Amino acid sequence: MLSENQLVLLISPKGKRYIHKLSEKTEIQTHDGVILVSSIEEAGFGGYAHTHLGKAYLVLCPTVHDLINNIRRQTQIMYPKEIGYLLLKMGIGPGSRVVESGTGSGGLTTALAWYVGDTGKVYTYERREEFYNLAKKNLKNVGLEHRVVQTHKSIEFGFDHTDCDALFLDVRTPWEYLHHIPKALKIGAMCGFLLPTCNQVSDLLRALEDGPFDDFEVTEILIRHYKTVPDRLRPEDRMIAHTGFLVFARYMVNKIARVDKKNRYEREASASYNERSQNDDLQSDIVQDNNSHDTNTYNERSQNDGSCELNSCSDNSHENNSCESIPCTDGSCSDNSCAVAPVSYTSADGENHAATCETATCETAPREINTSETNTCETGTCPLSKSNEPEK
Ligand SMILES: C[S@@+](CC[C@H](N)C(=O)[O-])C[C@H]1O[C@@H](n2cnc3c(N)ncnc32)[C@H](O)[C@@H]1O
Repeated sequence: MLSENQLVLLISPKGKRYIHKLSEKTEIQTHDGVILVSSIEEAGFGGYAHTHLGKAYLVLCPTVHDLINNIRRQTQIMYPKEIGYLLLKMGIGPGSRVVESGTGSGGLTTALAWYVGDTGKVYTYERREEFYNLAKKNLKNVGLEHRVVQTHKSIEFGFDHTDCDALFLDVRTPWEYLHHIPKALKIGAMCGFLLPTCNQVSDLLRALEDGPFDDFEVTEILIRHYKTVPDRLRPEDRMIAHTGFLVFARYMVNKIARVDKKNRYEREASASYNERSQNDDLQSDIVQDNNSHDTNTYNERSQNDGSCELNSCSDNSHENNSCESIPCTDGSCSDNSCAVAPVSYTSADGENHAATCETATCETAPREINTSETNTCETGTCPLSKSNEPEK
């Protein structure tokens, strides 16, 4: 026997699907005539209810997939193929507290609310009132509104909820809001994003690399349906070729630069180094000379002081290797600035020396130069330099 507020999925003889809440009506109009709610109740799940024209409708319990497909929409909603993956990837299940924006029509919100169960919560943010109201109605229709806290505001003003287990953004420019994420999430929690274009994914990745995030993934999910004809089994003629890219990251504290990935700062530093060496032949010669010098210094250092765990600094520029994580003990660079190409400095006696602290990283990687007459930090401040003054 079906309960009073039960949602039912009716499938017509031609395969059309309808979802209804039983309590709302005594009869249901279809393209094939009227079905009495009492006959649906009598049929039960897995049975057939007949219209007044004698057409048999299959009566089923809707899945969350059916609910999402049936949602009234005024925005693009997320597709089940992406939702299914993100739920697993982000570890969302009973008891999870999940932050989401924008709510849109509430497609993803519906799935999240379904999976967090009665012990979890979905905190969803939407800046446009009409979508906020639409999602409210959609959630009520499927009986999931009590698991959702809707907030009508732009996330440019931050999130109100803290210590959550996961956060998902389906907005056009998510990189503009990354600085609000730490307040909302537990350390190590998963963040996910949906973006339709590669350019947006690149922008987001750059911003994630610069922020307290790690363990990145970019994924695209394609799904191809088949005609269900056993003797002529083949794909459907049409396919949705592209919906969007999923991006995932973990919120970290005390993030360190990864040895196998250059972060944005390092790439830019390398690029500006290359430009400089092209524009200034003389400087370029000195730098090349110092590269080889620096390699020797580095190899000596890594072999002698035992601080180079990976010992992989085999090229002249230290660009692909573990210099990032290797402390420098020769007095010229205190930590990760070795990752960019070295520059030279001139000591009081007029001699050129290799210096491995190249640019503004002196702020975080201060060095003490033994000879100290010349500070080779070209752009930034060197808190531990001799003068203790910012360099120009
Ligand atoms: C594509 S829709 C989201 C669809 C939703 N994921 C779903 O499955 O139904 C994007 C929504 O984000 C909202 N939005 C964009 N920027 C926002 C912001 N800064 N704060 C809150 N909502 C925002 C838009 O108004 C829009 O409703």
